[in-house]
Amino acid sequence: MFKLKTMSVAVAMMVAGSAWAATVRDEPIQPIQPAKVENPAKVELGKKLWFEPRLSMSGIISCNTCHNLSRGGTDNLKTSIGHGWKAGPVNSPTVLNSSLAIAQFWDGRAANLQEQAGGPIQADVEMNMPHTLALDVLQSIPGYVAEFKGVFGKEQIDMDMVTSAIAAFEETLVTPNSRFDKWLKGDDKALDAKELAGYTLFKESGCVACHNGPAAGGTSFQRMGLVEPYQSTSPAEGRSAVTGVDADRFNFKVPTLRNVEMTYPYFHDGEAATLEQAVDIMGRLQLGRTYSDDEIGKIVAFLKTMTGDQPQLTMPILPPSSNATPRPDPFK
Ligand code: HEC
Ligand code: HEC
Repeated sequence: MFKLKTMSVAVAMMVAGSAWAATVRDEPIQPIQPAKVENPAKVELGKKLWFEPRLSMSGIISCNTCHNLSRGGTDNLKTSIGHGWKAGPVNSPTVLNSSLAIAQFWDGRAANLQEQAGGPIQADVEMNMPHTLALDVLQSIPGYVAEFKGVFGKEQIDMDMVTSAIAAFEETLVTPNSRFDKWLKGDDKALDAKELAGYTLFKESGCVACHNGPAAGGTSFQRMGLVEPYQSTSPAEGRSAVTGVDADRFNFKVPTLRNVEMTYPYFHDGEAATLEQAVDIMGRLQLGRTYSDDEIGKIVAFLKTMTGDQPQLTMPILPPSSNATPRPDPFK
């Protein structure tokens, strides 16, 4: 069912006109490129907003609460916990390499990172903060007013500026240089025999039909439970919530497998606690194939080679509130 197009031409990267060329192996997954920072001041502002708990009603929840950059950009919970200890309906996907995905959210309801970033601030199961109040808070903090002016040339802060700065920061959250990337770039020693056997199995059994591209995912929406239905108690219905088309029920954005060793538990409902379980379920439900423990071990060994360099951040120091700053209301 999943015949792969084999491309015969090797991809050659020319380095700035020089005669030197590095050959990247011709594979369905490509190396992650390091981030190019075009506007460092905007990225720095976005980083502050990313760690800013005053964008939440409680004053204690920031983007980093559920997408912890010390933990692969996730909260490692089955489903997220937000304002008032409310449980969200789905598992928090990693934000690492999310700029490489065709759309944001499990059902792709946001087209890009900027469109996504406004949602969690006001969602009641997340930060529960009306946008008008979030803007009042930022506008009351002289340090932010100066920084927004420096980046956007305006003193009046609006949501477009906030989400655009957050998205600029998120675009830097890529994880190049995994061992698998080194292998893709031609280093034969970067993977051991078991890991390589795992990759071969991953490729030959058809996982790459869906998990492909630099992020090993994020390139399409696919049915969860293609060969055998997936049983879940989660209310999430997937892509049909966006398109209204019944055939899109249980179609989810194929998640990235980059850093998947760190982003447990797995699936939109967080029901698979371990990578072994996730691989076993994928084999049976998506490909109609029951792997032996040995085969699962090999695929898992391969998946763990896709953990790349995690973003190295200096903790931002957030500007102090002024006397006019609206106070947080943790119990609202
Ligand atoms: C309470 C936990 C929580 C907080 C706080 C939170 N998120 Fe999320 N985030 C989630 C969950 C859960 C999802 C998946 C929701 C869905 O797909 O329906 C998500 C999805 C995302 C995605 C899409 C990733 C993908 O692969 O589809 C991005 C990007 C993101 N959040 C960024 C942010 C930003 C920026 C903030 C802060 C403004 C933030 N999040 C705050 C829990 C949280
Ligand atoms: C037909 C498309 C398709 C195929 C083939 C496929 N996957 Fe998936 N994969 C998905 C989708 C869609 C999800 C998300 C499902 C969900 O959350 O309900 C997923 C999720 C995963 C996850 C969990 C990631 C996370 O962060 O939650 C892992 C691990 C995974 N796949 C590995 C594999 C492996 C290994 C194979 C081959 C045995 C494979 N997949 C084959 C579409 C596919």
